[in-house]
Amino acid sequence: MSSLTNKRILLGITGGIAAYKSAELVRRLKERGADVRVIMTQAAQEFITPLTLQALSGNPVHTDLLDPQAEAAMGHIELARWADLVLVAPASANFIARLSAGRGDDLLSALCLATTAPIALAPAMNQGMWHNQATQDNLTTLRARDVRLLGPAAGSQACGETGLGRMLEPEQLAKACAEQFASGLLTGKRVVITAGPTREAIDPVRYLSNHSSGKMGYALAEAAVEAGAQVVLISGPTHLPPPERVALVPVVSAQQMYDAALKHAAGCDLFIGAAAVADYRPEQVASEKIKKGVEEHTTLTLVKNPDIIAAVARLAPKPYTVGFAAESERLLEHARTKLERKTLDAVIANDISEEGIGFNSDDNAVTFIDNERSIQLDQRRKSQLARDLVALVAARLR
Ligand code: PMT
Repeated sequence: MSSLTNKRILLGITGGIAAYKSAELVRRLKERGADVRVIMTQAAQEFITPLTLQALSGNPVHTDLLDPQAEAAMGHIELARWADLVLVAPASANFIARLSAGRGDDLLSALCLATTAPIALAPAMNQGMWHNQATQDNLTTLRARDVRLLGPAAGSQACGETGLGRMLEPEQLAKACAEQFASGLLTGKRVVITAGPTREAIDPVRYLSNHSSGKMGYALAEAAVEAGAQVVLISGPTHLPPPERVALVPVVSAQQMYDAALKHAAGCDLFIGAAAVADYRPEQVASEKIKKGVEEHTTLTLVKNPDIIAAVARLAPKPYTVGFAAESERLLEHARTKLERKTLDAVIANDISEEGIGFNSDDNAVTFIDNERSIQLDQRRKSQLARDLVALVAARLR
């Protein structure tokens, strides 16, 4: 069974008799490991109650755009950012028309406008409404905007007619959602990724480190696995659970990360350095805890750590090598310097002066730079950004 582990699926339910199947759909999505939140339109609530969906999803159900209480808990913009995938099932003819017109006058349509996550629709309607030219024109518009259609199926309908317009069964929809994340772009590729901080020991209880949480590197590892790669994730200390189907190599110091990286990078196709590696480490590591003295000042002598990614980029054959550049000023200029100095194939410039992105946040915004061009990727969840970066890199690998 293909997995939806850790995927955040926002299920939009619109008004149609197939809404009763959405309860089963929530269960099928959760069985595959997804975290599911539900938005219901006014009309959907005529067919099934929010309470049922709340009990099954384990999360409060969202119904109103202008409900101050609900907006305070998780507003529509947060919901839009939260989602890895927006699935509207059932998607009525009316909702399809409103989505195609770009309306934003209820919670679900406003959220579809605001999200950068992919949108999938599971249409469900009378066969005459499905075949109507207006509906077909709306679907053409939506397809051109990369909205994915799941179904409909043909068969007998609740109205007594027979034809196209039945919503796909919950299991078929859950499977299609899982496949949505499995791009196959890196099938057969060996990928090595570094993530998280390093810790440089001062004495048995103290160390030098930084605020990297590992979220970016782990998201890249998950995205690479979804894309079909065999992934080794070399990680400094983090609080994150090991991603599924990834070979995790835990390390602590920059030297350990260097040794592991050179061991695993030999013969790999793609190396991504997302770790925040300490550039320096204490020259001496005290074997006992250093005691407080009478002096007001003390000095720590530091020595340079090996540059992991630069060493990987010197391997022969060289994997396609992608570094990150975390910068607080002159972002693109400093990133390009790193691209050249470390002989990377691409660098991902990460502006760490901005609130809410970069170190230890769930979102990021970056510029992907290679020798030909630079591509700006605006703020989005690290999981989505990772998938977008994997797609960019995979296109260059091919
Ligand atoms: O982990 P998160 O909380 O999700 O945050 C993500 C992040 C901000 C840590 C990440 O996206 C990021 O920008 N990582 C690189 C951070 C950094 O320290 O960059 P740098 O400019 O110091 O290093 C440039 C590149 O060289 C990086 O690819 C780094 O992994 C690599 N490097 C640096 C030093 C060293 N000794 N060896 C290296 O391989």
